[in-house]
Amino acid sequence: MASPLSLLHLAVLLCIYLVLPVFAELPRIQHQPKHDGSLNFLVIGDWGRKGLHNQSLVATQMGRMGDKLNIDFVVSTGDNFYDSGIKGVNDPLFLQSFSNIYTAKGLNKQWYTVLGNHDYRGNALAQLSPVLRKIDKRWFCERSFILNAGIVEFFFIDTTPFINNYFHDCNQHYDWRGVFPRQSYLKKLQKDLEEALAKSTSKWKIVVGHHAIRSIGHHGDSPELVKHLIPILKGNNVDMYLNGHDHCLQHIASKDSPLVYITSGAGSKAWRGDVKEDHSDVVKFFYDGQGFMSAQVTNSDANFAFYNVFGESIHHWNLTKSTMHSSV
Ligand SMILES: *[C@@H]1O[C@H](CO)[C@@H](O)[C@H](O)[C@H]1NC(C)=O
Ligand SMILES: *[C@@H]1O[C@H](CO)[C@@H](O)[C@H](O)[C@H]1NC(C)=O
Repeated sequence: MASPLSLLHLAVLLCIYLVLPVFAELPRIQHQPKHDGSLNFLVIGDWGRKGLHNQSLVATQMGRMGDKLNIDFVVSTGDNFYDSGIKGVNDPLFLQSFSNIYTAKGLNKQWYTVLGNHDYRGNALAQLSPVLRKIDKRWFCERSFILNAGIVEFFFIDTTPFINNYFHDCNQHYDWRGVFPRQSYLKKLQKDLEEALAKSTSKWKIVVGHHAIRSIGHHGDSPELVKHLIPILKGNNVDMYLNGHDHCLQHIASKDSPLVYITSGAGSKAWRGDVKEDHSDVVKFFYDGQGFMSAQVTNSDANFAFYNVFGESIHHWNLTKSTMHSSV
């Protein structure tokens, strides 16, 4: 029979094992900004198709722009590997759809990426593995994490577990390891995000997730994120929510706050051909084809642009901090 002491030990160990992860904060990483503090980066989503569906063309233009802007890093909004993520850390898809495609010198920078729903159809844990970072040192993927880059703080969040449909989808297998129990996973994530945003002292706050909150593209809005994320983002002066999922480029401005909703999910297959009517916010731009986004941020200004597969700028917009503060 176990002695009371060893039972106590066991109880303590169980507590540490079960409770600690629940209270752990989001992983936090630092990216050293340039000497003048400015930050340039590219944003791409929904891309890994072995170069097909114009993935290679987009990669070429990203390389040019990466060079021209001397970017600090690339942000990926998820759906990194089609159709079903990667099978394991040795899956050749990682090289075929990432390392061997984004070969331009201008893209030889750190990539910060989250998981999309298609990534969850494979071995989701493999994409988070440090082994991939050894195979290609540019790779960094976590479910949810904070990236501090000086004037900009990024809050990457795992949106797939929010979407109810995936949990009722009997035709697809999802790798939910680490997600169950789902409700506590989601509650903790919302709490961690809210606390981290409230604490942030960065000039600019950008939240990145795979699924759109607001979209006029094929998938449209994600009601779960409208409900759970909008109050947190608007309540904490977030400047931008960046996502993929819909294979397009779009810019939607919130009607009642400075928040803008940006979709950069056009890294490969696009041209879905369906657009929804929507008048609840202000749709500034929508492009159904392939492309990517650039961002140039300083303390006072942020310039953003969308590019098509020819590298042509098809939409650009600027935000300035002073006007945004006066409008709050
Ligand atoms: C590649 O891009 C061009 C120009 O936008 C477009 O006409 C063509 O349909 C695209 N190809 C595919 C496979 O989407
Ligand atoms: C707006 O952004 C564009 C590039 O996207 C830049 O050339 C232009 O100077 C910016 N304007 C202001 C007022 O910052």
